[in-house]
Amino acid sequence: MKRIYIKNLNENVGKEVVIKGWVAVRRDQGKMVFMDIRDMSGIVQCVVLTSHSEALEQVKEVRTEWVLSVTGIVNKRPEKNVKADVVGGDIELEITDIEVLNKTETIPFEINDDTRKINEDTRLKYRYVDLRSNRMQKNIRNRHKVIKFIRDFLDEEDFIEVETPILTKSTPEGSRDYIVPSRLSPGMFYALPQSPQQYKQLLMTAGVEKYFQIARCMRDEDTRGDRQPEFTQLDLEMSFVEREDVMELNEKLLIGIVQKLYPEKKIQQIPFPRFTYTEVMEKYNSDKPDMRENKNDPNLLAFCWVTDFPFFEKTDRGGWTFTHNPFSRPKPEYMEWLMNKEKIGEILTTQYDVVLNGVEIGGGSIRNHNPKALEKVFEIMGHKTEDIQKNFGHMMTAFSLGTPPHGGIAWGLDRLIMLLQNEPNIREVIPFAKTGEGKDLMMDSPSEISDEQLRELGIILKKKN
Ligand code: AMO
Repeated sequence: MKRIYIKNLNENVGKEVVIKGWVAVRRDQGKMVFMDIRDMSGIVQCVVLTSHSEALEQVKEVRTEWVLSVTGIVNKRPEKNVKADVVGGDIELEITDIEVLNKTETIPFEINDDTRKINEDTRLKYRYVDLRSNRMQKNIRNRHKVIKFIRDFLDEEDFIEVETPILTKSTPEGSRDYIVPSRLSPGMFYALPQSPQQYKQLLMTAGVEKYFQIARCMRDEDTRGDRQPEFTQLDLEMSFVEREDVMELNEKLLIGIVQKLYPEKKIQQIPFPRFTYTEVMEKYNSDKPDMRENKNDPNLLAFCWVTDFPFFEKTDRGGWTFTHNPFSRPKPEYMEWLMNKEKIGEILTTQYDVVLNGVEIGGGSIRNHNPKALEKVFEIMGHKTEDIQKNFGHMMTAFSLGTPPHGGIAWGLDRLIMLLQNEPNIREVIPFAKTGEGKDLMMDSPSEISDEQLRELGIILKKKN
């Protein structure tokens, strides 16, 4: 018989069916045995009655989290036993036969409750068990829905998703790169992308005009609740646009996600309030203010935009560095100061950040598509002409070969989903998250590699002390 999903059981009342799944709960009452069986679509109570002696024999051996194929008759539950809040709560399966598909050792922790109570290292080590829990299933399934909504929305708006390389070159995103040694070019290294920033700009040169990507980004920085060494961005870029166009599109998309997928949530203010950097710093002493009128309301979403950031800030060593993105264009009225390299600290950029409940969930800008102006940015930061050529020559060349004006943004998708799912940190919405020390406890990485691999790469390790 063909397997059916638990969510479809109530269309089959009175019939004999086969379901497959895991034993969530097993209660042996001597004469009768009850089991809750769970599949990806729901959970259902099953009962083995004395009249089915063979099944009763089989079920005595079964333990929680065993994987079963169960044949049974779908019965309506008596009115008083209906669990209205559970999928399959109004029916019960009377088991006639059990086939054990796989036995399970004692599982490392209970998954019927909220697993956030369990030691997190244990959860990460047995992540595949943790992910079976109801809350984690919801997190990964809703993550899928958010991403699908984004893809459909942007497709409607004539964007195309373009993949960009993972083995690439160091980009100046401001964090440390993860590097990958090259076997074919000994002594040379790729860098993993901190973001697809340069590629997406080059896609504008390539005439794509409307690009997006659900992009994995890697940054070797200290991990925190809202930071992982690898995380996911919704990355997008558009040609022939101004700041307003990008902000408007993103605001529409964010509102769409909330209204369609999280109708129980309320957006505090539409259109999203906007502040300049100076305003938020004066008023809230933070460039990511938590605007919620009531911080106890888990369904309140307070978005805001922050604009008009300073382009440059002083480094510890007295030089200048960018505050957000060296590829940003200054606001038009400051272009002259950039070209003359004057009043550097007062130049404002076209950067815009989007903040939700005190978390920076995204940021972007209109870009500096004029190669001369871009060169000035690197000069201000103290790069020598030959270094600029070496590191960014490909961008300068592209900008001299027909690059349209363009701008874009990237969202920290994990952060957005964390807030939408009311989770305290992004690890809860990243299926296979890493620890604070950047370890994957399940795969046990990072790990040593063989002498043979080291030799091939021409790498000699310093002795550990
Ligand atoms: P930025 O570096 O601001 O911009 O990154 C965009 C958004 O990504 C999220 N984010 C992170 N999320 C989880 N873990 C991390 N380690 C992490 N680092 C950043 C934040 C942030 O707002 N290329 C530019 C975007 C652009 O200008 O288009 C960029 O990457 O939510």
